[in-house]
Amino acid sequence: MQHPTLAFIGGGNMAAAIAGGLRRAGRPADAFVVVEPAQAQRERLLDEFGIEALPAPAKRLRDAQLVVWAVKPQVFAEAAQAAAPFVGHALQLSIMAGVTSERIAAATHSERVVRAMPNTPALIGQGIAGLYARAAVTELDRAEVEAVLVPTGRSLWLEREEQLDVVTALSGSGPAYFFYVCEALVAAATELGLSEAQARELALATCGGAAQLALHSSEPLTTLRERVTSKGGTTHAALESLRADRVAEAIERAVHAAAARARELGRS
Ligand SMILES: NC(=O)c1ccc[n+]([C@@H]2O[C@H](COP(=O)([O-])OP(=O)(O)OC[C@H]3O[C@@H](n4cnc5c(N)ncnc54)[C@H](OP(=O)(O)O)[C@@H]3O)[C@@H](O)[C@H]2O)c1
Repeated sequence: MQHPTLAFIGGGNMAAAIAGGLRRAGRPADAFVVVEPAQAQRERLLDEFGIEALPAPAKRLRDAQLVVWAVKPQVFAEAAQAAAPFVGHALQLSIMAGVTSERIAAATHSERVVRAMPNTPALIGQGIAGLYARAAVTELDRAEVEAVLVPTGRSLWLEREEQLDVVTALSGSGPAYFFYVCEALVAAATELGLSEAQARELALATCGGAAQLALHSSEPLTTLRERVTSKGGTTHAALESLRADRVAEAIERAVHAAAARARELGRS
């Protein structure tokens, strides 16, 4: 497939993860147009990936058939105002949390808008992103978006834009939940006599390993859990304690709280 020229508005961490991955996969440096006001970031893009970034939107942006919006949501309005005269013909891909596709379509004068909600493991190619496309987005556009996001990990299409709030609450915020759980595991294990380094290694390898085991299996999570829970055994003792403390209910409330906050931010 002949890939179109790709523009990034914002050349920060996420843009570097995507553009760097595509460069490593063989896309030529001159297939990218990046707008990045911070000089240090422009230098990083040039040094690491040979990509020359512009300090402000300019005519070269017109070459781009796909524009990736990778600025913080609070600077979107300002960034869009400056870039809009050059990008209205293009497919727009936003990775900004909370900025609705309606707002992006209005600000860019393009109805072909895809929103992605990635997560931080994207920075090492191990992320998962929820994707939502407006009605004007074609099958070819969808394939191009998927190709652009390949360096960040996996992706999953959603039918309704509101579902992005749930993705935000699950996989977007999710890495923090796992760190929170791992922090508690490390704290308990150090109280019980392991060094912090030993506890960290064991906790993280267990989280990663359990996730891989589940990914390689078609069995329900409940079955996988029951398989390591023999009656009267150690896991059973721990799970009884978790149940008594109503930890599952607390996690459900936490995810609801995150989704409510995502909805609120989308309206502001
Ligand atoms: N990191 C993640 O894993 C993750 C996950 C989910 C969603 N996201 C979303 O992805 C987006 C980018 O995140 P990030 O981590 O890559 O942020 P970042 O590293 O701060 O990158 C944003 C870049 O955009 C630049 N910028 C600011 N104003 C601009 C303008 N008017 N025009 C063009 N560029 C401008 C910033 O420069 P200055 O530093 O000078 O301001 C910065 O270098 C955010 O909306 C975030 O919510 C990120």
